[in-house]
Amino acid sequence: MQSSMDVAGRQAGDIKSIWTLMLWICGVMYALVLAFLGWALWRARRRLAGPPTVEGVESAADRPMQRVLGGWIGLIVLGLLVLTFGSFLVDRQLATAANRADINIRVTANQWWWEVEYQDPDPSRSFVTANEIHLPVGKTAKIELVATDVIHSFWIPNLGGKQDLIPGRKNDITLTPMREGRYRGQCAEFCGLQHSNMALDVMVDSEAGYEAWRARQMRSAPAPATPAQAHGLDVFQTQACANCHQIDGTEAKGQTGPNLTHVASRRYIAAGVAPYSRGTLAAWIADPQGLKPGAHMPIVQLSPADLNGLLDYLDSLK
Ligand code: CUA
Repeated sequence: MQSSMDVAGRQAGDIKSIWTLMLWICGVMYALVLAFLGWALWRARRRLAGPPTVEGVESAADRPMQRVLGGWIGLIVLGLLVLTFGSFLVDRQLATAANRADINIRVTANQWWWEVEYQDPDPSRSFVTANEIHLPVGKTAKIELVATDVIHSFWIPNLGGKQDLIPGRKNDITLTPMREGRYRGQCAEFCGLQHSNMALDVMVDSEAGYEAWRARQMRSAPAPATPAQAHGLDVFQTQACANCHQIDGTEAKGQTGPNLTHVASRRYIAAGVAPYSRGTLAAWIADPQGLKPGAHMPIVQLSPADLNGLLDYLDSLK
């Protein structure tokens, strides 16, 4: 699920090709160095066993050695030229990929979760989700990378390389997924206690599947369908939840935590800590520190009836 050798995107393919080229050239050089070392040792032992030679006088046996050394220098120069040219080509390929972007996404890294904003020139077609990225296969996405607190690093090994997210700076990375499937992204720069639990769920869908997902994400949250769900929405809006979280179409407009408009459509909670279910959500709300020590989600004291209503409501946000 998370391997830069299992290539599923054009940029990861470019990087793997330069990696393979480097491995071959450096591997062959290394094998040659060891072979020459073995030969030199064998030669020295043979010379010790033979008649003594005079220091500083060139013997007939040294002449082929000079030719070998000349060839070796030529080989090193050729190898370095091939590596330089190969990395130039791959670098250029990666740098120009953004010019063909079909989709624009902004990813904001936080301790310890990802905000993902799908941008559209028409604001009504923009939306915000968290800890997951959906991409259509064969299309190019330009992903703008920003951070709110400390330096993080964006890395989806199957699709492309790494890029840092630095507070006060805008970076970007371009991804062109070529194979449908589920992949895992991971923050690749130590950013605090929950650095390792800062995962990104990446779904590469067919174009139709992606468009269907996007159409669902653009909608506001569905209105509560049962009295328990209505009570849950009331709890969400009147307790601390709404201070940090937004649910489109309600009065909850908090901006410091993930947008929960379609939280029940996600596969994981808390940036990959646990698979999404009503049960894990209950555990997370009741004791965030138990599930993800150091997380900035506070404990909100709720009565069992309030917690059950809240779970009913959140679970309806498909
Ligand atoms: Cu974010 Cu490590």
